[in-house]
Amino acid sequence: MQTSAALKPDYGNWVPKKFIFIPGILCLIFLGLAFLAPFWAIMSGLFLLICGYFLLSYYCFSPAGGDVQARIVGLVLDRLNWDGKGKALDIGCGNGALTLRLAQAYPAARITGSDFWGKNWDYSQQVCEQNARIAGVADRTIFQKASASALPFEDGSFDLVVSNLTFHEVSHTSDKRQVLREALRMVRPGGKFAFQDLFLVEAIYGKPEELVSQVRNWGIHKVEFVKTCDEAFIPTLLKLPFMVGRMGILYGER
Ligand SMILES: C[S@@+](CC[C@H](N)C(=O)[O-])C[C@H]1O[C@@H](n2cnc3c(N)ncnc32)[C@H](O)[C@@H]1O
Repeated sequence: MQTSAALKPDYGNWVPKKFIFIPGILCLIFLGLAFLAPFWAIMSGLFLLICGYFLLSYYCFSPAGGDVQARIVGLVLDRLNWDGKGKALDIGCGNGALTLRLAQAYPAARITGSDFWGKNWDYSQQVCEQNARIAGVADRTIFQKASASALPFEDGSFDLVVSNLTFHEVSHTSDKRQVLREALRMVRPGGKFAFQDLFLVEAIYGKPEELVSQVRNWGIHKVEFVKTCDEAFIPTLLKLPFMVGRMGILYGER
């Protein structure tokens, strides 16, 4: 039997496996039809490219392929200017990658990880709790199902609020700036925040400088924006706009 020390947390992969399998299966089906007309051979080639792209992206994100996913999570931690005293919230925690790294970095803190854990993702509350036991921080972490569009906590409940690549995914709210506003509602006056998302996609958030001034108008007195998609460790392959190519961090103090 493996001990928890021998086990490794499973933080999953930001490329859902279906993005690889579905194009792969379509590629094979169209290849089977290729004797009917050249059109099917072209379609087969197209789906082979899509399958290959996501397979390679999956590999780059994984620990074996450079651990780009963990390094991107680390960018949020690098922006924190927190004393580690009190409570933190990680919105859209997935399998708890950022939640657990926070718990390890701040041994006096209690951390809540929340996520909707919908069908589109291979993440779950159960895996988060198991990861917390493996990481040895289960006594200071709680995982709770909640939509980022309407968080079930009182205003200002947390000393630190973080989130990584979640807001643009929240389908319950069409205006993703309102998801950001809901996240800021969780921060106590004087508390800290750091949110990484596709903030450079203007169709979602508008221009970054307008977003920053909008956040100030919501009463947040310290807010900064930093572009993170240009980090040297991120392979060009992953810099497409629908991957992490338009990413940045909004951080500051309420
Ligand atoms: C790219 S993953 C990032 C997960 C995690 N933050 C990480 O860094 O590994 C996007 C996350 O958004 C979550 N999500 C999608 N819609 C949500 C919603 N309405 N409320 C909360 N989380 C949501 C997904 O379940 C998924 O965990």
